[in-house]
Amino acid sequence: MADKKIEIKDLTLVFGKDKNTALKMLDEGFTIQEIRKKTGLAVGVNNISIDIEEGEMFVIVGLSGSGKSSLIRCMNMLNVPTRGELLIDGENIVDYGKDQLRELRRHKVAMVFQHFGLLSHRTVLHNVQFGLEVQNIDETQRKKKALEAIELVGLSGWEDYFPRQLSGGMKQRVGLARALTNEPEILLMDEPFSALDPLIRREMQKELLSIEDYMDKTIVFITHDMNEAFRLGDRVALLKDGELIQVGKPRDFFENPANDYVEAFIEDVDKSRILRVKTIMNKPEIVAVKGQNREEVVRKLSDAELEYCYVTDNKGNLIGYVELEKLMNNQMETIDKFIETNYKEINRNAFLSDVWTKLSESDVEVAVTDKRNRLRGIISHEDVAKALS
Ligand SMILES: Nc1ncnc2c1ncn2[C@@H]1O[C@H](COP(=O)(O)OP(=O)(O)OP(=O)(O)O)[C@@H](O)[C@H]1O
Ligand SMILES: [Mg+2]
Repeated sequence: MADKKIEIKDLTLVFGKDKNTALKMLDEGFTIQEIRKKTGLAVGVNNISIDIEEGEMFVIVGLSGSGKSSLIRCMNMLNVPTRGELLIDGENIVDYGKDQLRELRRHKVAMVFQHFGLLSHRTVLHNVQFGLEVQNIDETQRKKKALEAIELVGLSGWEDYFPRQLSGGMKQRVGLARALTNEPEILLMDEPFSALDPLIRREMQKELLSIEDYMDKTIVFITHDMNEAFRLGDRVALLKDGELIQVGKPRDFFENPANDYVEAFIEDVDKSRILRVKTIMNKPEIVAVKGQNREEVVRKLSDAELEYCYVTDNKGNLIGYVELEKLMNNQMETIDKFIETNYKEINRNAFLSDVWTKLSESDVEVAVTDKRNRLRGIISHEDVAKALS
């Protein structure tokens, strides 16, 4: 199991002066509407607990005013939680002093905003470099890092343009590139694509998934669009009135909706176009490694009652599969002569609608890989059928 990157524990956030009154009223069972009416205090987050895993694309979704921004802004202490803990890599950042917070924001957590936040009198290159300048990083190094980030978001060639010369989607790419220059471990994105028109938005979703696939960063992404949430999220948290209504993989919302509110929320979603392979796939029970002892693999496959397994090199890159029947009854030392390469593979971010044809052309389960060709899982016809039923 992956490590916990962010742990949110019993977190409550109250806006206004007399925060203790609001806390007391919450404990006595008043609703946040009643609290607002009686005291004028706003409760942005009401007793939320969530763990976010390293490398996860975690999406927070909910209607306007449900507390999404309030919560994500606690993750870099732009909002100071009124009660509860917020741990990053096991450290409670609520206890951090000024210097620790500065370090956190510079090196660990970066934020991308909805309205780009670009400086209009600076070129793309200089906007992207901005965060590095404040850190006194020398110019050659700065430029190198900025150009890398610009390439990663698909803006090479636009370095010398000014923001006013760019489309909305391009401006958001600049914002994203700027957030990436510090090589943050965690990327916080508060409705970054909401201002974009639908086509550009789809393009940006794809781009983000591909960046995520490549870099394996922990990303917390906010949206009020359920389709966007399910398209992007490894896991999704649905908020309402500052409370967590349900958290889980996209498929969990369809298979076990927590209540009527969730059911209404997901009613019009076309599952095959939003569920991604990665949220349905299984971990292979056995993976053989090139050069591995033949008899050992035979034994493992027999014990697990499997007819075949996938094979990777020693870096986890997929190279093929071996079948039990062919491995048995011969004198070879290793499995290498028996590795078959006529398998089908699919990227882990593909949608279920894309995997159907591959499954029908393949006798064995389809291998799920990432952009670097590492084997991440396997997926079968039954898995997909079950998820869509
Ligand atoms: N700075 C603030 N001062 C007082 N109340 C606030 C503040 N920020 C947010 N709130 C209140 O907290 C609640 C949650 O707001 P929040 O901005 O977190 O919602 P949201 O889910 O991000 O909504 P949207 O989709 O519109 O961005 C709302 O009732 C809002 O009025
Ligand atoms: Mg918001």
